[in-house]
Amino acid sequence: MRYHVLTLFPEMILQGLHTSIIGRAVQRGVISIEAVNIRDHADNAYGKVDDYPYGGGAGMVMQAEPVFRAYEAVAARLPKKPRVLHMTPQGRVFTQQMAAEFAQEEDLIFLCGHYEGIDERVLEEIVTDHVSIGDYVLTGGELPAMVMIDAISRLIPGALNNQESAQYDSFQDGLLEYPQYSRPQEWRGRQVPDILLSGHHANVEKWRHEQSLLRTQQRRPDLLK
Ligand code: ADE
Repeated sequence: MRYHVLTLFPEMILQGLHTSIIGRAVQRGVISIEAVNIRDHADNAYGKVDDYPYGGGAGMVMQAEPVFRAYEAVAARLPKKPRVLHMTPQGRVFTQQMAAEFAQEEDLIFLCGHYEGIDERVLEEIVTDHVSIGDYVLTGGELPAMVMIDAISRLIPGALNNQESAQYDSFQDGLLEYPQYSRPQEWRGRQVPDILLSGHHANVEKWRHEQSLLRTQQRRPDLLK
């Protein structure tokens, strides 16, 4: 997977995604992350990429041309027309299922807005998917892009160790994950459930499935509908 992030804050993307498991996946060459500074594609000598909104109103709007040029600089190098994901609270809310779908792509372009948004005309021209990470408003699309890149990358074969397998994750089967325990067997008076010490594999699996159901019912009953 090759990610290309169009942003006014490339350092945010690069710093945020080069540590821990995702950073290791980059080092191994399982994924690559390119951050393209939209400002480098400004159509003036000052690097100005925003202007006042037509019709008035608060804030500034990112202009169409620099965004389009940044997109073209990336798209021209790719073997086929990539999906372009626009980070916006006005998008479809991101889910595990969407992460699995995006993980099938070879290239993904993320378009991160700032200020009051991006000129609608360039969105019409290049965007294939408008995506939100939840019903709240952030100051820019960089954190949403990082959230999505993290969730997508861990589904790509070779990104996780066996031990970190995505197979039993929450949401993978529509349920939340069962509770986990590690040593010591007693911690501040709290015991590890006996069944996990029994060594009886089938019973442990049964218990875990019951716990998943119970937990989903208690914490996210909406998932069971
Ligand atoms: N930009 C600002 N808020 C956002 C959100 N909730 N999801 C995606 N992009 C955003």
